[in-house]
Amino acid sequence: MEKKNIDWSNLGFGYIQTDMRFVSNYKDGAWDEGALTEDATVVISECAGVLQYAQTIFEGMKAYTTEDGHIVVFRPDLNASRMADSARRLEMPVYPEDKFVEAVVKTVEANASYVPPYGSGASLYLRPYMFGSNPVIGVKPADEYQFRVFATPVGPYFKGGVKPLTLKVSDFDRAAPCGTGHIKAGLNYAMSLHAIVTAHEEGYDENMYLDASTRTKVEETGGANFLFVTKDNKVVTPKSDSILPSITRRSLMYVAKEYLGLEVEEREVYIDEVKDFAECGLCGTAAVISPVGKIVNHGEEICFPSGMEKMGPITQKLYDTLTGIQMGRIEAPEGWIKVIC
Ligand code: PLP
Ligand code: COI
Repeated sequence: MEKKNIDWSNLGFGYIQTDMRFVSNYKDGAWDEGALTEDATVVISECAGVLQYAQTIFEGMKAYTTEDGHIVVFRPDLNASRMADSARRLEMPVYPEDKFVEAVVKTVEANASYVPPYGSGASLYLRPYMFGSNPVIGVKPADEYQFRVFATPVGPYFKGGVKPLTLKVSDFDRAAPCGTGHIKAGLNYAMSLHAIVTAHEEGYDENMYLDASTRTKVEETGGANFLFVTKDNKVVTPKSDSILPSITRRSLMYVAKEYLGLEVEEREVYIDEVKDFAECGLCGTAAVISPVGKIVNHGEEICFPSGMEKMGPITQKLYDTLTGIQMGRIEAPEGWIKVIC
């Protein structure tokens, strides 16, 4: 299979239209079989539930070319189950988890020429999503839905690649207690847009959100969970019911414990103790692990000893091991890698 003529090593995190996408419709209480299509447009009613009341959820995952030339996807079963959780919370019909994985496989196979080559640093980002498609004017869930999966080749999420980031402790909240922060609903990201634009205008790369009720505990950023490393090399991640259960973070905690023999801890992390950590990173599908060099909390600068030039040593080991597993250089735990072809 011939690869597309794309400058893989210089890709940013943007949308490039690929050849095929998967579409399935829900009507009269059932999902249809679904199929691949060349049509990249969506035509829906002006009054569709998604347009009026933001009834939409999504997932994000990546396909890679491994060292030995296979195309693989990382833990798609976990994306399927998280999307099912998101659907239940927004009163949407669950897209069956096995069908979700099948749809992802079909989309990758159909766009195999867009999967970046091994060693390019790029990957094929997959975006499964679902939305209420029929007219809804009183506030209630839609009766009809569309599930789609598209693919787009991407490079690093943050412009500087792996250069340490500067974050701002945000005065805005991302998610409320008992709200929707733990699911992947479009509305959470709409909520974060003003905060991210403001942070960028002020020269920051991202926001650190605190818990909405006390503003004392670390939650996450707009698109990634936090990992911290203590001065005695323990890996710590915030525990909260209002953050997204990141698949990357769960995988990294496993890697830290089982591959690197480090102590790991998921617990509440107070903003006041962040200054005592040795390293900080953002983890997610798009972010992989992006190191954080500095966090500014209302004028107080928290500078991590790892500095502004490179990743801290534990963050680097976590990054190398996770990407090694994803690219087939390091043996993966059972069930982590779905081989497509
Ligand atoms: N937190 C938020 C708010 C996200 O949007 C994402 C991205 O999906 C993550 C965390 C990381 O999750 P994952 O590692 O499953 O991609
Ligand atoms: C992902 O990491 O897949 C996400 O959905 C994050 C998004 C902000 C790009």
